[in-house]
Amino acid sequence: MSSKRTLLITGGAGFIGSHVVRLFVNKYPDYAIVNLDNLTYAGNLENLKDIDTLPNYTFEKGDITDALYIDELFQKYQFDGVIHLAAESHVDRSITDPMAFVMTNVIGTVNLLNSARKLWAGNFEGKRFYHVSTDEVYGELHDPKEFFVETTKYDPRSPYSASKASSDHFVRAYNNTYKLPVVISNCSNNYGPNHFPEKLIPLMINNIKNNKPLPVYGKGENVRDWLYVLDHARAIDVIFHNGANGETYNIGGNNEWKNIDLVLLLCGIMDAKLGREAGESEKLITYVTDRAGHDLRYAIDAGKLMSELGWAPSVTFEVGLDRTVQWYLDNWSWIENITNGDYQNYYSKMYGA
Ligand code: NAD
Ligand code: TYD
Repeated sequence: MSSKRTLLITGGAGFIGSHVVRLFVNKYPDYAIVNLDNLTYAGNLENLKDIDTLPNYTFEKGDITDALYIDELFQKYQFDGVIHLAAESHVDRSITDPMAFVMTNVIGTVNLLNSARKLWAGNFEGKRFYHVSTDEVYGELHDPKEFFVETTKYDPRSPYSASKASSDHFVRAYNNTYKLPVVISNCSNNYGPNHFPEKLIPLMINNIKNNKPLPVYGKGENVRDWLYVLDHARAIDVIFHNGANGETYNIGGNNEWKNIDLVLLLCGIMDAKLGREAGESEKLITYVTDRAGHDLRYAIDAGKLMSELGWAPSVTFEVGLDRTVQWYLDNWSWIENITNGDYQNYYSKMYGA
């Protein structure tokens, strides 16, 4: 592959995408990076303000569901590679509005595949379509000794995971049918700076700081496997450059937490940082009605990525979580700018407060 490349990164104004864009723009000055994002409620250009004037970075505001526009964009920039992260990403929103997930996650992905196929027209030398997906496509685990591996049967159980599973199938089908060079990764739950405060960790940080109830779904016994977002971005870099054509790589932190234990941990960290008495914030914990169809446990076996491509997480959960909480406290205006807007409507619809 030549060192000069033009890459499309979709969803680069979102949580994970912004970390991927920053990593690529800083690490590969010879690459021209185009960030395509239509700035939904989850997209925020503030996430990229430290790199947005660099000469190898361009932002394009546009919608991946618009096939004509996507085609024109591919023609305009002549992309060699695509890293596709744009998506509707929140399970609770997928329960109230599944069609938005079909449109962006399924139709949007197929539009990108079609434009790549058309532009590359069978000449695939140096070309790559990287689809960023989730471990949620595998469904839920019950046996504590079981982990998701790349061959685990798909069993999506929420509209979000069904839409991501569908897009994964399309990506593999284009590899099989048209020989489009693709690679897919399925990652566990991410945490870190710039995480939108509808997701568990930033929502809890925000509510603890504001002395608001901490809504724990059901009994808080569901388990998630948490990975620091920068380690996900590093894995995407490794897989994009060294992953084998047509392959899938699972990414995860081998770091399982029951929701209630994680919320208690966050309460302890926040008490210490805010100078509150130990145990004060956990009084805010409120058990609320469970999420419909709530998956019990996700846990990733990232052995293939580690042994074949040499990736490993760079930070422990203790360090990553402390950095994350500190980032929110040091950048409180970031969360305030978000929670002052439409978020209020969303929050009161979800939690009635
Ligand atoms: P996010 O919701 O924070 O960001 C998504 C971005 O996509 C936003 O900037 C949004 O504006 C953009 N977008 C949405 N619809 C669009 C459209 N129609 N056209 C153009 N842009 C659009 O999501 P995230 O958490 O950063 O997730 C990024 C990707 O990683 C997703 O594909 C998600 O499925 C996957 N993933 C996320 C996690 C996680 O824990 N957050 C874990 C594994 C995989
Ligand atoms: P979330 O961050 O939405 O990620 P996902 O559903 O994709 O795993 O939720 C993580 C876990 O936390 C999940 O089991 C649902 C639970 N949860 C709560 O208990 N309370 C909340 O307010 C939220 C947003 C999530």
